[in-house]
Amino acid sequence: MMCQHYDLKLEGADTAFSVDASNTTFGQGCLSEAGEIAKSLGISRIALFTDDALAKTEHVAKVITSLKAANVDIALYDNVRVEPTDESFIAASKFASDSNVDGFISVGGGSVIDTAKAANLYSTYPAEFLDYVNAPIGKGVPVPGALKPHIACPTTSGTGSECTGIAVFDLLEMKAKTGIASKMIRPTRALIDPDTTLTLPPNVVAASCFDVLSHALESYTARPYTQRPAAPSPALRPSSQGSNPWSDLGCAEALRLAGIYLERAVSDANDIEARHQLMWASTLAGIAFGNAGCHAPHGMSYSVSGLVKDFQPDGYPKGEPMVPHGMSVIVNSPSVFRITGVDQPDRHIDGARFLGADVSDVGPTEAGEVLSDRIIELMKATDMPNGLTGVGYSADDIPDLVNGSINQRRLLDNAPMSIDEEVLTNMYAGAVSYW
Ligand SMILES: [Fe+2]
Repeated sequence: MMCQHYDLKLEGADTAFSVDASNTTFGQGCLSEAGEIAKSLGISRIALFTDDALAKTEHVAKVITSLKAANVDIALYDNVRVEPTDESFIAASKFASDSNVDGFISVGGGSVIDTAKAANLYSTYPAEFLDYVNAPIGKGVPVPGALKPHIACPTTSGTGSECTGIAVFDLLEMKAKTGIASKMIRPTRALIDPDTTLTLPPNVVAASCFDVLSHALESYTARPYTQRPAAPSPALRPSSQGSNPWSDLGCAEALRLAGIYLERAVSDANDIEARHQLMWASTLAGIAFGNAGCHAPHGMSYSVSGLVKDFQPDGYPKGEPMVPHGMSVIVNSPSVFRITGVDQPDRHIDGARFLGADVSDVGPTEAGEVLSDRIIELMKATDMPNGLTGVGYSADDIPDLVNGSINQRRLLDNAPMSIDEEVLTNMYAGAVSYW
């Protein structure tokens, strides 16, 4: 029997949920299986996507060795942009079209995996760039059919992009992040080697783990699938289908692991157990949010990163200002959960408990606060930015931040409460600084 959360069915709402996930291999050294997997997928010439820093690492070398041993030809694209744009997606797509490949492999963080998804899509089903981009910014045209096989090999314990049908980028002329969302662009295989995280700088580990943490919390507190209007046909049921019993499993365990290992993984690069466990947490949260969807903290993050002023974090490429994805999300999360706690107090208390907070004396009216406090405690312990102020904004920027994210309806409408301009303004106002 389901818990009450899913018994509250609305008229015309969905009555079922679907589970989609990349076929996943997880474990130390598994990058050396890339060649065998490519072969088994019928790939004879593969586009290998990575960025110029990763191209020099042992991780990419291991993948290349494995592909060559399996007699798979390689077309190397090591020009992926960290925090991709429409221009960088188009350049990558042109490379894929010109390279005459029958499969893709991506080795890198979310930027690399998302770029390979886009290159696979536009080279397989050429179209005007905005056709497949989420409405209302793009046309939201459905992807016509299956893409070429794509093996995704994440090197950060963060985005979960290897498990999702989402590709995020900056649309330069609007100075806003948006994305392409379709089950069709989900990678065919995920090859997750936790050793790839051992060389990451502390700030990168922290930012990507807060992304994981927010994926799990947002999926767990998302509007339940039983309260989302049913799609016109089962095939059109969205990936952001709302919280559901399958995703709940991954969220709970990902949060439990983050609560135990996040501080350890950031403070000690030699803590192999902590870094491996966070990679597993990232995988679980990726599978969870790939089937539930995120909500307001991610929706708000798009303008936080898209409108960046002069913030340049440690551990990331220098030269251009940027707010890394995990930071652009987590600066919003405590404020959002403080507000949404009113709607689903039990789930917010659960979230705090999973993360290790003592909730024995917490009542429903304090649900948002206790979760918010636990997130802030973890942010302070790992030197994360102190809210919007910490990434270069002030209260004066709130109208622009609201403008830049109010159209992220796929995410905002997945929240447990309805979010209009006034609510969104309050969410940003609560995120200006936390300590
Ligand atoms: Fe994310």
